[in-house]
Amino acid sequence: MKISDVFHMSFIFISVTVLFSNINSQYCTDAAAAEDKSSTQRRPYIIHVEENLTMSHQKWHESFLPSTSSSQGLMFSYKHAMSGFAAMLTEDEVEAVSKKDGFLHAHPSENYKLSTTHSPSFLGLIKPPVGSNNQNNIWRDTFDYGKGIIIGVLDSGFTPNHPSFDDHRDMPPPPKKWKGKCQAPIVCNNKIIGAKSFIFNLDGSRVSSPVDEDGHGTHTASTAAGQFVDNANVLGSANGTASGVAPGAHLAIYKVCGSSAYCAGVSILAGMESAIKDGVDVLSISLGSSEGALYMDPISIASFKLVNYKGVFVSASAGNEGPKISTLVNASPWIFTVGASTIDRKILAVVKLSNGVKFLGESAYQPKNFTPSPSFPLLFPQSEKDENSSYCSNVTTLRSIGVSGKVVICNVGIVNRIQQGLNVADAGGVAMINIGSVDDGFTTFAASDEIPTSGINYQDGQKILNHYYENPNLTVTIEFLGTQIRGDDPAPAVASFSSRGPSKVTPGFIKPDVIGPGVNIIAAWVNPNGNSHNVSPTYKIESGTSMSCPHLSGVAALLKKAHPDWSPAMIKSAIITTSDVTNTNGNRITDQYDKTSANFHVMGSGHVNLIKANNPGLIYDTQFTNDYVVAYLCGLNYTDNQVSIFVPHSKCSTSQINGVDLNYPSMVVRLSRSNYYRRRFSRLVTNVGPNLEYKVIVNPPPGVIVDVEPKKLKFMSIGEQLKFNVDVYLDANLPEFSEGFGYFSWVSSDEKINVRSPMVITKEIISV
Ligand SMILES: *[C@@H]1O[C@H](CO)[C@@H](O)[C@H](O)[C@H]1NC(C)=O
Ligand SMILES: *[C@@H]1O[C@H](CO)[C@@H](O)[C@H](O)[C@H]1NC(C)=O
Ligand SMILES: *[C@@H]1O[C@H](CO)[C@@H](O)[C@H](O)[C@H]1NC(C)=O
Ligand SMILES: *[C@@H]1O[C@H](CO)[C@@H](O)[C@H](O)[C@H]1NC(C)=O
Ligand SMILES: *[C@@H]1O[C@H](CO)[C@@H](O)[C@H](O)[C@H]1NC(C)=O
Ligand SMILES: *[C@@H]1O[C@H](CO)[C@@H](O)[C@H](O)[C@H]1NC(C)=O
Repeated sequence: MKISDVFHMSFIFISVTVLFSNINSQYCTDAAAAEDKSSTQRRPYIIHVEENLTMSHQKWHESFLPSTSSSQGLMFSYKHAMSGFAAMLTEDEVEAVSKKDGFLHAHPSENYKLSTTHSPSFLGLIKPPVGSNNQNNIWRDTFDYGKGIIIGVLDSGFTPNHPSFDDHRDMPPPPKKWKGKCQAPIVCNNKIIGAKSFIFNLDGSRVSSPVDEDGHGTHTASTAAGQFVDNANVLGSANGTASGVAPGAHLAIYKVCGSSAYCAGVSILAGMESAIKDGVDVLSISLGSSEGALYMDPISIASFKLVNYKGVFVSASAGNEGPKISTLVNASPWIFTVGASTIDRKILAVVKLSNGVKFLGESAYQPKNFTPSPSFPLLFPQSEKDENSSYCSNVTTLRSIGVSGKVVICNVGIVNRIQQGLNVADAGGVAMINIGSVDDGFTTFAASDEIPTSGINYQDGQKILNHYYENPNLTVTIEFLGTQIRGDDPAPAVASFSSRGPSKVTPGFIKPDVIGPGVNIIAAWVNPNGNSHNVSPTYKIESGTSMSCPHLSGVAALLKKAHPDWSPAMIKSAIITTSDVTNTNGNRITDQYDKTSANFHVMGSGHVNLIKANNPGLIYDTQFTNDYVVAYLCGLNYTDNQVSIFVPHSKCSTSQINGVDLNYPSMVVRLSRSNYYRRRFSRLVTNVGPNLEYKVIVNPPPGVIVDVEPKKLKFMSIGEQLKFNVDVYLDANLPEFSEGFGYFSWVSSDEKINVRSPMVITKEIISV
């Protein structure tokens, strides 16, 4: 785990640790290193078994348990999310279970971690002024604010009585199909139509309150579907009307993460099981594990059932492990995987050095009484006695250095930014310049700081340090300029922390699918928020792919409202093929890590453009029928038992397909010696109207040739499907090629619709 993650995104989406050391025996060939060899210690296990239709699933699952008196019984019995159960078992007991008929696979439950006022308007959604009923407003008129759509949120619970979860403004009662409930002490209203907890204590007993003890779940739920709340702000900053992306949608809360922000795999499965039974339309999952085989990942397994058997749109966060490549999670082809990008809002805290040089930092705390003059001496704490002195983590160290009356420079890390500020103040410092980590690149963060602070990006931080070293007499002040929309920085840009592709587990299509708002996002938080400038109701600024995921869940709810007959794959295709690759300045979206143009592994297909997604013209509908998914999973070289976790009694003897052969709207094509550096695949597009003729425009990366046949598709009716073939091969004149980014687009005859399929083409390098 990177230090920067812990401190910018403490409750957000952090990389995973395997809490329960793994086992090493014949029934679990994918076991990690065994640390604790004790075979008497009980841990939560997830056990997959065949279905048995001759008895109740609970009885059937119990029949696998050891009959010893010390056995604690089933923790959870799953029927819809998977076929199997969770139980506290010892290694010996798991071994015994694995010998019974009908057993498929067992693994210890892994722990997953949890990875606004303005972001809806950045998506083109602006609340019409009161009394403007005749004015055209797409949010209200086309999408009806997502009214009646049910968004399930798998997270740390929610905060009852927060105005973001009120059901005023004509919220209808839940639709008839809804089967969910609210667990005591929660009383459902028409906004919160379900709230359940799936947390358990270490003794296996359940904790029943769905109340959020962390804040993360409150933030994500209100981002997806929070009510309109006027005068929402963080310490007075970014003041405005807060709302979720789909403020008319219902929320169903599935608490699967406890107070220490960890989320047990067994609880995640139980929450998803309940979401299937209750009847959600969209499921928002802002958490993840490290990337592993699909059959080891409860989110992947249960999402398969949700998407393909229940028509639920599942959006999940890509992770906060950027800028390293191949760090993303939740990359199953049936999940919508969301990366994080900036919006065009900054809450400025400008660092002004006495030599006239300025740097644009951010803070949500904008003290009115911190005057730009006088200027204060600058200090970067360096102590031989404390290797961590530059992190301002130890008040004793700061006092011994003598920070009194100074502006203190602190590197992000060791303790969180709020605590760093408190330490500086405790030791007598007047303000803090907080420098981001090298991995944060050019991303700046606005925190609810306790003392006057400017959060500066890594690059600017190094420049400030150079000025400081050159001139020990340098003084400094911080000027607080408040909330600025459309600053100099073009938006969106991909957040440095946003996890990147390519996926190692699911090659063949581009992941993440898209990026959406995930930097300095304001949404509801728990009351109180553990901060001395406590205000109620509480809103908080957070950054992470945890924040971008619920934006896309809200977008999916709006599209579902406007197009009730679209499948999850159709909604996904609409968002992917219409996404933007340019920013507000009209230039290519950049990567905030190094300000270079973002490629498709970094930004996915591009940034969500809801207005265009509402009218995509053509759709790639990937229906994962049983045969299709078995062919795909067998193509990933999974065993019969592993594939049977998804589809009962599967055999891999028949046809197999690769990721690039799925009817996915994006593609990663690998040219290798084994395919003679030539790959052909086909796609089927569905017309969702109007009836038009489309012609293909191909923009291959240099070094390859991409042939699409036929070059024209003429649609005569809505729902009509037409097939085309794509041939990709090396250009004999340009042998240097190793990886390139291109696309092909179907452009309508009226030139109003552009259905873009981004492509990554790689060539196998033969080492000699
Ligand atoms: C279902 O359970 C019954 C009773 O334990 C057993 O006889 C039968 O073999 C099981 N069926 C399958 C398909 O495992
Ligand atoms: C927020 O804006 C509203 C309306 O413009 C105003 O009445 C209110 O005082 C503002 N609140 C803060 C904290 O600036
Ligand atoms: C510095 O921080 C690291 C990481 O938290 C810690 O392991 C180490 O003990 C700290 N060193 C001192 C001198 O406090
Ligand atoms: C802070 O530093 C002092 C002296 O260097 C040390 O005794 C103390 O344990 C440190 N405190 C923490 C919380 O690391
Ligand atoms: C810093 O200030 C001291 C005392 O006023 C002066 O002697 C010294 O020349 C100054 N150094 C620089 C680099 O300006
Ligand atoms: C599956 O195994 C075959 C043969 O060993 C190999 O060529 C192929 O790359 C493997 N596929 C994946 C997705 O690992």
